[in-house]
Amino acid sequence: MTEQTESCDIKEKSCCCAGSAPEAKVDLKSHWDKAYESSDLNKLGWYEEIPEPSLRLLEKCKLDKEAAILNIGAGTSHFIDELIAQDYRRIIVNDISSVALERLKNRLDPVNLQRLEWICDDLTNPSELTKLEPVDLWHDRAVLHFFQDIKEQDTYFALLKSLVKTGGFAILAEFSLEAADKCSGLPVFRYSDEMLSEKLGNDFNLIESFKFTYQMPTGDDREYVYTLFKRLHP
Ligand SMILES: C[S@@+](CC[C@H](N)C(=O)[O-])C[C@H]1O[C@@H](n2cnc3c(N)ncnc32)[C@H](O)[C@@H]1O
Repeated sequence: MTEQTESCDIKEKSCCCAGSAPEAKVDLKSHWDKAYESSDLNKLGWYEEIPEPSLRLLEKCKLDKEAAILNIGAGTSHFIDELIAQDYRRIIVNDISSVALERLKNRLDPVNLQRLEWICDDLTNPSELTKLEPVDLWHDRAVLHFFQDIKEQDTYFALLKSLVKTGGFAILAEFSLEAADKCSGLPVFRYSDEMLSEKLGNDFNLIESFKFTYQMPTGDDREYVYTLFKRLHP
């Protein structure tokens, strides 16, 4: 497995409608780097000690321990710790933020690092990600919903479709239609399971979906829709 976080040279990526000043231009890589620099990891607004709903869906996939699992926009998620604890051997960790990936790397036991591949890359303008071999599972919690622009969404779904094997799975957990309209100070595009099914098309079958109320470290609630898809056709 390779390590690519040290040479993360993603170009500046902007959003014209972030945070409390909707007109301000925000460099999204800097936004996420700052979020991970400036906070205790367990105070982040998306911190999950145990990613229970993701684990519930992972179990349904009944994957081999050698399965390739790609966690996109992983940040410092404990889903990675859980995959290691469950003895998965091919774990690919992606994020736009090199700070997040470094903090995650520093948190993990060094003896487990050889199971991990690190890819600092932008899902809406992917480069290194496009070079990956097909994967058995694509896992996304709270990433897709940041992509407001239809072109960004199309790029995301084209990448997913190019990377998930026939017989493989995608877990997508995003803000639901009832959810807040911002996350981490950025506007979000909210989803239902039907909307996600439509984006994935006929080659993917919705195996399971459920609503989940996540409680932030502040005590506030955030409404998610969790979905598990299986790819039936190439
Ligand atoms: C709300 S956090 C969720 C982090 C993690 N999935 C979790 O559940 O703890 C959103 C994550 O998406 C990453 N992200 C945002 N835009 C991205 C992009 N264009 N490409 C890759 N990662 C991105 C952020 O750096 C951040 O780690």
